[in-house]
Amino acid sequence: MTIDYSKDAIATRAIHAGQEPDPMTGAVVPPIYMTSTFKQPHVGQPINGYDYSRSINPTRNVFDEQLASIEGGKHALAFSSGLAAIDVVLRSILRPGDRVMLGNDVYGGTYRLLSKVFVPWGVEITTVDVSDLAAVNKAINSESFKLIWIETPSNPLLAITDIEATAAIAHEHGITVVVDNTFASPALQHPLELGADIVAYSTTKYIGGHSDVVGGAVVTNDDDLAAQFAFLQNSAGAVPSPFDSWIQIRGLKTLPLRMQRHSENAMAIARHLESLKGKGIDEVWYPGLESHPGHEIAARQMHGGFGGMISVQLMGGKAAATKFAESTRLFTLAESLGGVESLIEHPGAMTHASVAGTANEVPDNLVRLSVGIEDANDLIADLDQALAATLAE
Ligand SMILES: Cc1ncc(COP(=O)(O)O)c(C=O)c1O
Repeated sequence: MTIDYSKDAIATRAIHAGQEPDPMTGAVVPPIYMTSTFKQPHVGQPINGYDYSRSINPTRNVFDEQLASIEGGKHALAFSSGLAAIDVVLRSILRPGDRVMLGNDVYGGTYRLLSKVFVPWGVEITTVDVSDLAAVNKAINSESFKLIWIETPSNPLLAITDIEATAAIAHEHGITVVVDNTFASPALQHPLELGADIVAYSTTKYIGGHSDVVGGAVVTNDDDLAAQFAFLQNSAGAVPSPFDSWIQIRGLKTLPLRMQRHSENAMAIARHLESLKGKGIDEVWYPGLESHPGHEIAARQMHGGFGGMISVQLMGGKAAATKFAESTRLFTLAESLGGVESLIEHPGAMTHASVAGTANEVPDNLVRLSVGIEDANDLIADLDQALAATLAE
């Protein structure tokens, strides 16, 4: 009998949903079903539908069920990377001639996939500041869109889009709304509840949470969309391995706890960096700060914190940003985000190099911090010494 956890809080669902002890052995932790195929007792009669692991695997199913429960969504499907998940969403919905409204501050890889793969295939894109409802309205009134792609908070400038208001406008025009919820994670924000049709994740980040796996996922309440995603997932085959699924199950169990600490640390660091404005720091972007233009919306649509991502613009341009990013002791200079350890990077030269020279180009004095769950005072001291080293140049 499957236990219903839908009325339990997120921290409970994260640990219990989909995690029934193995009926044969009682193993409390779901086994890693490291098998590509399954014995069928009779021709064409797989046990419980398990026939081949590209199509279906019990470990992956556990991850899907756990994620769907935390998100409060009906269907979740895991993929081998965030971009594989995004690709399946786009390929399921878009046809040549369709147009996508794309946030002007989205992950460089999403922009690259659309502009370099989908545009040559006949899809059109219009880049819009989707955090500005008037700009969204204006774009909708001048062109016809099939899809709006939102990141909130966005990568790397932490812009906030009002999901509920944007979805309402989009739906009046029959436009599908996708939210890449990677930065907030399902512990802090539930786009489906706010009217989005689809949520996409790079589970490589907060969901995996330990910088040890690459993965992605899609969640939706729409049965038809879910069937299309599952069809393409099986037809194209970008599935995570049983081991990758298992390690993400383990990560997801502690997501609510980790997000709480990521958010507390980031808030303390953002306030500290804000106090250094004019003293080496030019601008701090963190939706938890009252000074952030999207703070009120973020406070309404995010619950329990504003996440662990901060972007800072350095006085002294690219040279200062580079020196700062290379001078930290605890923050590791590396791409990616969302792990327990703090990371620092220069988006213009690293994660967002693919948008150089486009409408989505990022400022070259920008440094992005993925604040980990170390001690906040140690992290602050590290940033202080890196800034001192930068100013001494
Ligand atoms: C917001 C966002 N979406 C999607 C992706 C792509 O995910 P992956 O690297 O797992 O393919 C990333 C990667 O950095 C990201 O930051």
